[in-house]
Amino acid sequence: MDRTREHLIETYRKKAKHYDITSRLYPVPGYPQRTQRLRAVQALRLRPGDSVIDMACGTGLNFSLLEKVVGPGGRIVGVDLTDAMLSRAQDRIETNGWSNVSLVQADAAGFDFPAGANAVLSTYAMTQVPECAEVIAHGAKALSSGGRWVVLDLKVPGNTPGWLAQLGTATVRPFAAIDQWIMRRPWETIRAAMQEELTDLSWTELFFGTAFLAAGSRRP
Ligand SMILES: C[S@@+](CC[C@H](N)C(=O)[O-])C[C@H]1O[C@@H](n2cnc3c(N)ncnc32)[C@H](O)[C@@H]1O
Repeated sequence: MDRTREHLIETYRKKAKHYDITSRLYPVPGYPQRTQRLRAVQALRLRPGDSVIDMACGTGLNFSLLEKVVGPGGRIVGVDLTDAMLSRAQDRIETNGWSNVSLVQADAAGFDFPAGANAVLSTYAMTQVPECAEVIAHGAKALSSGGRWVVLDLKVPGNTPGWLAQLGTATVRPFAAIDQWIMRRPWETIRAAMQEELTDLSWTELFFGTAFLAAGSRRP
């Protein structure tokens, strides 16, 4: 495992215990994260009985929203790299008595997506994955016909001066090389990959361009 991955796991191990509380302040207090999550889940167009993969699921903050739409006959698979985040997700599953949610500890970059999933979702994580384009391609190939891929994540608003972007993202990504994240502009890579791999792509900028919601369907 490379140094960046080790560092990322270490960071999320430290965050895991209080993630559900601290994430309410993410990226800043009052940020409409819950509304954004709801929009992302709606964009999946799931129906009762469907299966969905929550890539880089963290502590499972999307699970209750997903459960509401797929119901007990559906299936949710949460995938994450960090053991400590997954154990919080496991606590959530047990507390809620969900028998249709399973967890996999894996790197998104090497994850073998199960074929035939109705949807793949990733929230506030994909811009941290350097291989995001490959992950999107692999997920797209595994989708059932008409299946949906939805990515919700943060971005730097267009026309933001470099220094301001740095200041803003320092609060959001204290663990990462902020400069690199800004310079890499991973949201553009994600947009291009989704355009390439999916059809019917929609791209919506949220909250003054500080987040994006990208959604597309598997090509027929
Ligand atoms: C900001 S948290 C978001 C968690 C969750 N999706 C949410 O919306 O609350 C980012 C998560 O991405 C995971 N992650 C980062 N890089 C990853 C990778 N390459 N493969 C799998 N998970 C990864 C981290 O372990 C962490 O749990």
